[in-house]
Amino acid sequence: MSKSFGAVRALDGVSLRIAPGAFHAILGENGAGKSTLVKCIMGHHRPDSGHLVIDGMRHDIRNPRQAHRLGLGLVYQHFTLVPNMTAAENLVLGQDPLPAVIDWDEARERAEAFQRGMPFRIELDAIVTGLAAGEKQKLEILKQLYLDRRVLMLDEPTSVLTPAEADQILGMLRDIAADGRLSVILITHKLREVLAFAGNVSILRGGRLVGEAKVAEIDEGELTRLMFGQKAVPSAAMRRASKVQPVRLEIRNLTARNDKELIACDRISLAVRGGEILGIAGVAGNGQRELVEVLAAQREPEAGDIRVAGARYRRSRQEMRRYGVFLLTEEPLHNGCVRALSIIDNLAIRNFDSRDHTALGCFLRRKALRAQAIALIERFGIRAPSPDARLDTLSGGNVQRAVLARELSGRVSVLIAQNPCVGLDFAATSEIRARLLAARNGGAAILLFSEDLDELIELADRILVMFEGRIVYETGRDGADRHEIGRHMASRQSWRRES
Ligand SMILES: Nc1ncnc2c1ncn2[C@@H]1O[C@H](COP(=O)(O)OP(=O)(O)OP(=O)(O)O)[C@@H](O)[C@H]1O
Ligand SMILES: [Mg+2]
Repeated sequence: MSKSFGAVRALDGVSLRIAPGAFHAILGENGAGKSTLVKCIMGHHRPDSGHLVIDGMRHDIRNPRQAHRLGLGLVYQHFTLVPNMTAAENLVLGQDPLPAVIDWDEARERAEAFQRGMPFRIELDAIVTGLAAGEKQKLEILKQLYLDRRVLMLDEPTSVLTPAEADQILGMLRDIAADGRLSVILITHKLREVLAFAGNVSILRGGRLVGEAKVAEIDEGELTRLMFGQKAVPSAAMRRASKVQPVRLEIRNLTARNDKELIACDRISLAVRGGEILGIAGVAGNGQRELVEVLAAQREPEAGDIRVAGARYRRSRQEMRRYGVFLLTEEPLHNGCVRALSIIDNLAIRNFDSRDHTALGCFLRRKALRAQAIALIERFGIRAPSPDARLDTLSGGNVQRAVLARELSGRVSVLIAQNPCVGLDFAATSEIRARLLAARNGGAAILLFSEDLDELIELADRILVMFEGRIVYETGRDGADRHEIGRHMASRQSWRRES
């Protein structure tokens, strides 16, 4: 298959063979063409050339409906659930063709019965908006299995899951595949998952197939070399000893409710000093999202105080700029940018009205904004056809880079980051981690929410654990113990049982 978008050759003569029951991984750096490939298979994009052969029959897939009828399914890199419907409704409405009349009681019962055979549970009556990212992803996968696909493609399905959840889901898919009932095509940036679950792997670079192997016959070094070519992969960042500085960001007794009006953050108090990374560990859904939303002024707290540099912080745009407060939120395409605007405009969201970018106090200077975008695209290695391209035409990892470029390029005094490396290939991951450390070394106060314990242990000076809306544990960098942290991340129930 080949597919170009304007001058960008996203896919260049790629061929794959997938056997029944195969678990086939696709690797490649950000922008390599992985999503484009599976979207062409699904008929979401029309390939310029190339076709599918299923059971010896040639098919030119024109749209996702046709692909569904052939038993093909895709879990997209971004969520496609209907946000204001329940989990059960999302399962049932995925059917194609949809029956003219749905007996909801019977459908609900069938969904329930189906779920009983699965290793994890989603509350079927929960509204999707209220689900944490990990739960939404489980529901996406559940939906595909419910629809009885023969070939299931998953585009970075584990980036929002904890390692334990990822293992659980990939293990389950492997078991279903082992019976020959399902073939799985997994796109991932995590070599660990490829080595643990996949039987075969194909590597894309610049739209081309640059390698194929049986996983048992290839090692990590060889995979990395194929993915990145001769490009150097940045090594781990340097942590410098930093002087103890005054508290820069302080949260006092903060209480906030979630969308269901339940207490999500329960009298949270914490303080981050300049030159410090304070890590917040925790399984998704324990109040982290609501806390970040409060800090980002997307949610009103019920009680408590936020202070920056000792002064009451009211979270307005002016204050963000005055104090140098920056934010990297989860799901950047939804929360951090405007997908239908250009890269130039998205990079300018913070500062389009600053003095450098306006004339006579109100007219935007488009030239200055363009120059800013070109400089950031260069500095942060954003792969884009042009600065005028719509943001949602970038590959997933490159959207993430664009938001990082905007939020990390100013004079950062306070940085609030949530899972900043999700969706980035591992060269980009080490680069971003290095940038976070550099900001810290330069004196910034960083509050880092992460579900990746390895990330926290690598970066944080102190780690707090958040559980059911409270801070339940604190440890310094020295003496941080994964098992101890993990134990506090798990529910109190299982913790009691263990001890
Ligand atoms: N709709 C589109 N319009 C224009 N260009 C596009 C579009 N979709 C993808 N591209 C371009 O095609 C190239 C491949 O993108 P693709 O999304 O397939 O990469 P990817 O391998 O999935 O990367 P990532 O790991 O970041 O998700 C990129 O250069 C991207 O900018
Ligand atoms: Mg992609």
